[in-house]
Amino acid sequence: MRNVGTHSISDAVKATFKCEDERTALLLTRLVDYLHDYAREVNLTHAEWRKAIEMLTKAGEISDEERNEFVLFSDLLGVSSLVDMINSPPGGTESSVLGPFHILGAPDLPIGGDMKKDNEGPTSVVSGIVRDGNGKSIEGAVLEIWQTSDNGLYSNQDPGQDRFNLRARQVTGADGRYAFTTVKPAPYTVPDDGPAGELLAVTNRHPWRPSHLHFIVMADGCQTLVTELFPEDDPYLDEDAVFGVRESLILTYKRRDDLADLPPGLEVAASIEAPFYTVDFDFTLVPAVAG
Ligand code: BEZ
Ligand code: FE
Repeated sequence: MRNVGTHSISDAVKATFKCEDERTALLLTRLVDYLHDYAREVNLTHAEWRKAIEMLTKAGEISDEERNEFVLFSDLLGVSSLVDMINSPPGGTESSVLGPFHILGAPDLPIGGDMKKDNEGPTSVVSGIVRDGNGKSIEGAVLEIWQTSDNGLYSNQDPGQDRFNLRARQVTGADGRYAFTTVKPAPYTVPDDGPAGELLAVTNRHPWRPSHLHFIVMADGCQTLVTELFPEDDPYLDEDAVFGVRESLILTYKRRDDLADLPPGLEVAASIEAPFYTVDFDFTLVPAVAG
């Protein structure tokens, strides 16, 4: 190893690896290949590599329990969405980014319950059926739902909101149905006051995400689905800062002027006033991978 050169160094590094399993060996040896190829191709300078390490150092410093700048880099560079798409099983609802604002412990909401409470904004009734890959409805599927209020902030970003504002957990009934009232979410900017914001600035990109509802959908024997639903009239659908939009996840909010258009069995039907909006979306879960 005394005579490593700009090409032979790649094999020299890989030869030192003694991984316990094949997958780890593959992941690490290919990482060395791509990193070294990148450095050779762009003729990486010391100053440039120092800058990259400085950005990663700042990412570490700004990250805490509530904020992970490395995830944000992964989101803004499209890696999170790429991994989502690679792992989105055919036949199921498409997945989309989890984002950093999910928190555990959201209150249980009965089917047809009110998640809107006293939040400002047009009342929307979101409902649908959770199904398996054969189209059969799933009783007892668990949905975690969270979204921004109309100021574009999640409850854990905004001291003016209760901790679990616009967050709920709901379990589907015998017919696989979920339903809740909420407000139309608002577009918002991803945090851009750290090194990930520097990346946006240097690439002349904006930090906006189109408005969306987040869902995690779980059921026994099925792969857990992490996804988002987007209103079709959002101005940022074609320029999402984190590349999470999929055609199949874009929804129409239908304006309703008549309470007779409410989905059946809505617990809060009596307190809803027209006009309101309805949104329908069925989730399809695929079987869990064995092992
Ligand atoms: C979100 O949708 O909550 C989100 C996703 C990626 C980065 C920042 C926020
Ligand atoms: Fe979000």
